[in-house]
Amino acid sequence: MLDRINQLVEEIKSLAASSAEEAENLRIKYLSKKGLVSQLFDEFKTIPNEQKREVGKVLNVLKTQALDKINEIKEGFASNGQGEVGADLSLPGTSFELGSRHPLSIVKNEIVEIFSRLGFNVADGPEIEDDHHVFEALNFPPEHPARDMQDTFFIATNPDVLLRTHTSSVQVRVMEKQAPPIRAIFPGRVFRNEAISARAHCIFHQVEGLYIDKNVSFADLKQTLLYFSKELFGADTKIRLRPSYFPFTEPSAEMDISCTLCGGKGCNVCKYTGWVEILGCGMVDPAVLEASNIDSNEYTGFAFGMGIERITMLKYQIKDIRLFFENDKRFLDQFKSAGK
Ligand code: PHE
Repeated sequence: MLDRINQLVEEIKSLAASSAEEAENLRIKYLSKKGLVSQLFDEFKTIPNEQKREVGKVLNVLKTQALDKINEIKEGFASNGQGEVGADLSLPGTSFELGSRHPLSIVKNEIVEIFSRLGFNVADGPEIEDDHHVFEALNFPPEHPARDMQDTFFIATNPDVLLRTHTSSVQVRVMEKQAPPIRAIFPGRVFRNEAISARAHCIFHQVEGLYIDKNVSFADLKQTLLYFSKELFGADTKIRLRPSYFPFTEPSAEMDISCTLCGGKGCNVCKYTGWVEILGCGMVDPAVLEASNIDSNEYTGFAFGMGIERITMLKYQIKDIRLFFENDKRFLDQFKSAGK
């Protein structure tokens, strides 16, 4: 009997199963009421008493080993709810997917980089602002429609707290803190109470530029914008300045670039004019300089502001502004190779 017990001990050491079902069959074969181990226990009752001590010891070892081994095999299949296949170690692991920059960040970084080559540094201001920085110090008269509830998200009117409608507020913040010369750009998020459509959103992004020094002229503004446009849209790009009006610049202009799609021949992107508008600009109004305690007899300057969404849409021929804010991976994945 001892021999047979030892033989089973060896046998059990090398047991294996390839499914939960096979594991259960092993349990039945060795440990069920009629199983091999149980049979030995039955036989044990019949052996002479003087052998019982020695045989009983090995038999108990056999039983615990069989239990441990079969439980161990069964556990291998337990983690999988179906009880069929256990962890398949040959499967490929879950890989980490590399993300990509958002198209608005790609274009913003590009704009920042172009202006940094001209010596502009980056400044920042709060998104939650007050009337003084968004309107008053920028020479907006009290009855100006931009101050209307229809356009501006007011958080409170007294004391006044509002979401900035343009990054021009950062012009004021910078002029308050820094004495000229100032040469800086301010990228940031702005908010307007607009109905959301393919062309407009209540949240969008702008990059503002401000240059204040002695003898800054309109020619400097024009040359800076021409350089910028050629760098961003390609060396063939032409610009055109149209007279316009902003309360904080005088004279003011809107700048068009030659259409990026048809190169000026006329297509549906430029509405068959050959030109597309991309920014507002002008010479800083002396009243704005004075409001920030800068002597307008000594200093002049220019400012410009552009919408990042609009420029990104032109650059990548994106037809709907809402795509930028929907976080649809199928859209965002398309910019994997575009941005640093
Ligand atoms: N702040 C203006 C806008 O949002 C753009 C602008 C900036 C115009 C600077 C002139 C100078 O439309």
